[in-house]
Amino acid sequence: MNYKMLSVRIFSDERGNLGVLEALKDFSFEIKRVYYIFNTSPKFDRGSHAHKELEQVVLCLNGSCEFVLDDGFNKEIVTLDCPTKALYIGKNMWREIRNLSEDCILVTLANDYYSEDEYIRDYQQFLKTIGRF
Ligand code: TYD
Repeated sequence: MNYKMLSVRIFSDERGNLGVLEALKDFSFEIKRVYYIFNTSPKFDRGSHAHKELEQVVLCLNGSCEFVLDDGFNKEIVTLDCPTKALYIGKNMWREIRNLSEDCILVTLANDYYSEDEYIRDYQQFLKTIGRF
């Protein structure tokens, strides 16, 4: 499974909490793109794709959601429900994002710019790409 949970450093005092992740220290890529999802609904899933090369770190800064991560052989579920959790997802991982709460704010740090060519949006194609079929 090409994913892992990262530890976000948290600095807490009476003013509140401050979380830090540093590129090339806490995860092994430089950030070229940041995007975020908000005004979500539990009625609609997102994701349903894999990336050929893209690496990402995902943070749920508010609300909650679940990632179903699939390497073509096994599926594992990761719940993101607090801003101290960060999820690294490497290449060739199919992901479904489900149970997005209405207050979910999901921020993604990515190692490259957006390119539709870089997506695998068909599950059978994903299985072929990883050599499963
Ligand atoms: P989509 O891939 O459907 O989002 P999700 O992975 O959350 O299901 O992306 C929605 C739209 O936004 C789609 O038309 C592509 C566009 N988009 C960009 O233009 N740039 C980006 O960096 C991203 C992530 C999406």
